[in-house]
Amino acid sequence: MPLQIIVGAQWGDEGKGRIVDWFAADADIVARYNGGDNAGHSVTVGEQLFKLHLIPSGIIHPKPVAVLGNGMVINPESLLHEMDMLAELGVEISPRRLRVSHAAHLITPAHRALDAALEARRGKDSIGTTGRGIGPAYTDKAARTNLRVGEMLSPDFRDKLAAHIETANRTLVSLEAPHLELSPVLAKFSAYASRIAPFIADTSAETCAVLARGGSVLAEGAQGTLLDLDHGTYPFVTSSATTAGGVFTGLGIGITAARDATVTGVCKSFQTRVGSGPFPTEVFDDLALRLRGTGANPWDEYGTTTGRPRRVGWLDGVLLRYAVRVNGLTELVITKLDILSGLEQVKLCVAYRKNGTVYQDLPFGPTELEGFEPVYKEFPGWKEDVSGLRRWNDLPQAARTYLDAIGQLAGVPVRLVSVGPEREQIVER
Ligand code: IMP
Repeated sequence: MPLQIIVGAQWGDEGKGRIVDWFAADADIVARYNGGDNAGHSVTVGEQLFKLHLIPSGIIHPKPVAVLGNGMVINPESLLHEMDMLAELGVEISPRRLRVSHAAHLITPAHRALDAALEARRGKDSIGTTGRGIGPAYTDKAARTNLRVGEMLSPDFRDKLAAHIETANRTLVSLEAPHLELSPVLAKFSAYASRIAPFIADTSAETCAVLARGGSVLAEGAQGTLLDLDHGTYPFVTSSATTAGGVFTGLGIGITAARDATVTGVCKSFQTRVGSGPFPTEVFDDLALRLRGTGANPWDEYGTTTGRPRRVGWLDGVLLRYAVRVNGLTELVITKLDILSGLEQVKLCVAYRKNGTVYQDLPFGPTELEGFEPVYKEFPGWKEDVSGLRRWNDLPQAARTYLDAIGQLAGVPVRLVSVGPEREQIVER
């Protein structure tokens, strides 16, 4: 298949990393098109847990070339750290395997400092960002003042970086935050530039060339639909296009590639969210602990990037149907079905109610959730441990009924279901 897009259908953390891993083995290119090291994609292979923040998880397979697209914001320190970590684990990290867009934007220590200072100033209205400098970097991009990866190679980069830090320092002082010392930043970036230089490329041209010769490109979305800058629960969103549309601008490929694309939405069997913002199906107390886990396992609901406990709740089918619409999803992958085993009852939000009126779809999408109450459909739970199952028909009838209801509500088929954190713990329909 020429183009497959994998996006999160919820608020991120749907388990996209391991689903990309499932599809990536035969791809020619696996590409990230948005966000930066705010993302946390985990893949478990045997005993090894790979935690990736910037590099597409497909790099773990020997074949695909990993591309960091122009739509990303890249902290070079994090990138080098990740490259070293992967190399230590035996993954080939060479310019043959890893390509970084010259047009991707840089995240500097100033962006991180500004992220922290702006969040502190927001106080109780804070967004709950990951603190990785994502918002300030995209702000500078939109203001047309940011530095791009390719500029690290230009002779005047040092001057531009110095000007950038000085400008940020003025803002930091006005926010009563500590300012940054210039010379350590300049020294570090000069070292980063020489290490990253061999990997910098025109990734748009390279990706288009692969598509033109009939090769396959897997686009790996970071975060989820409901964190999209335009289509999410604004202002409690990230600053990039997380939805499928972002693939075309974020990788620099033409939309004609969409003609034969598969658009796979990854969705947990329940709902989670990190950070602030509305969450109508949120649950608390014992049930929340049950869905979240204690944090003892790497797959429990604690942020991969920040370690924060995630908020948890019942699957929101109304928001899922919205994700199908804004992404043009053609299929669904449901993750973490095993977590629901043992519950007496499972609930699915199938509509909303406000002032006595029932809404099948939210009138203004997820931007306006205030005052809307979820309407649930209840399903009998199942007791069986599903983690060892690999065939659809072996899944308990009650689980299949729940999965069918999700597919019907969403209007697209459920293709895969994950039943555990390991690479092969997947049931294909
Ligand atoms: P930022 O992307 O760090 O600016 O954070 C903005 C919002 O997006 C916050 O609510 C974060 O918790 C959320 N967010 C960012 N990246 C992720 C992710 O990879 N998974 C889940 N939530 C995320």
